[in-house]
Amino acid sequence: MIVTTKDLFKHAYGKYAIGAYNINNMEQCMGLFRGCIASKAPFIIQISKGARAYTDKLMLEYVIRAADKIFPEAVFAVHLDHGDEASCIDCINSGFYSSVMIDASSKPFDENVAITKKIVDLAHAKGLVVEAELGKLGGVEEHVAVDEKDACLTNPDDVKRFVEATNCDSLACAIGTSHGAFKFTGTQGLRFDVLAEIQKKVPGFPLVMHGSSSVPQDEVARINAAGGKIEGAKGVDDNQFRRAAELGVTKINIDTDGRLVWCRVHREYFRDHPEGFDLRPIGKIFMEEYAKFIAAKNVKLGSAGQLDSVREFCKAANA
Ligand code: G3H
Ligand code: 13P
Ligand code: ZN
Repeated sequence: MIVTTKDLFKHAYGKYAIGAYNINNMEQCMGLFRGCIASKAPFIIQISKGARAYTDKLMLEYVIRAADKIFPEAVFAVHLDHGDEASCIDCINSGFYSSVMIDASSKPFDENVAITKKIVDLAHAKGLVVEAELGKLGGVEEHVAVDEKDACLTNPDDVKRFVEATNCDSLACAIGTSHGAFKFTGTQGLRFDVLAEIQKKVPGFPLVMHGSSSVPQDEVARINAAGGKIEGAKGVDDNQFRRAAELGVTKINIDTDGRLVWCRVHREYFRDHPEGFDLRPIGKIFMEEYAKFIAAKNVKLGSAGQLDSVREFCKAANA
């Protein structure tokens, strides 16, 4: 059942976070559904502009529609990740997506407001909800001066003004994370001080944490042992997800970790089967391993076990 992130966030707020997982192909989609059903969790499927362009934008739509039929008990939202104006408008008009992210965070405040407001008005007119972004995610290097680091983080004093001016439905905040496999060089971590300040400014408003892969060290070690070269990769401690959820984070974005599972499975398989060339045995292993990864991650997010309750909640909200 495809629902809006708005309903998912209402159910989750302050208690747990929903996993927002990026997919690019059928195998990731199957692993994601299987893992969420096994852990009884609602979830958000994210499709980036790159994922839409990977084959054809219709390809993932129909893979997801098929999965919805194969797993009728699933409850999920379909979300455009890091959209620009054109991709947001395309998704709003598609009749398939339930929410879009407009990412104008690289623009000055007023321009970000204007672009976001335009997309919010178009989306709301068609019943979709909008995630916006304020602040800049980036690699947080330990040698960078504190003032400079803080300048990139979301300024809590700007948040209320931004939310009121744009009427967006959720807000991605920069609180110390960055995209990819190399997030921290030392002992840095999530800026709970900044997050707590943001929540105080907009109590009850759903916040989003991007760049939240945990880059498991055993996964990195296995990839490197099987011929990879990703030394020094480091991610977010997923034991901190529940604390973030208590402070208003309702959506936690995870993409890189899924790519690491894919990389480990493929490297190990071909190392151990130099004679192999068939795609199906390895695809099956990947789907199983990705499902296991997703189910375990949903436990860390607190979304595991919420499926029946959230389904009733969404049905009642839309009756
Ligand atoms: O935040 C970005 C996501 O990880 C999507 O990455 O644009 O390479 O699909 P992508
Ligand atoms: P990661 O690179 O940490 O997986 O972040 C993904 C993300 O934020 C997608 O929008
Ligand atoms: Zn992101």
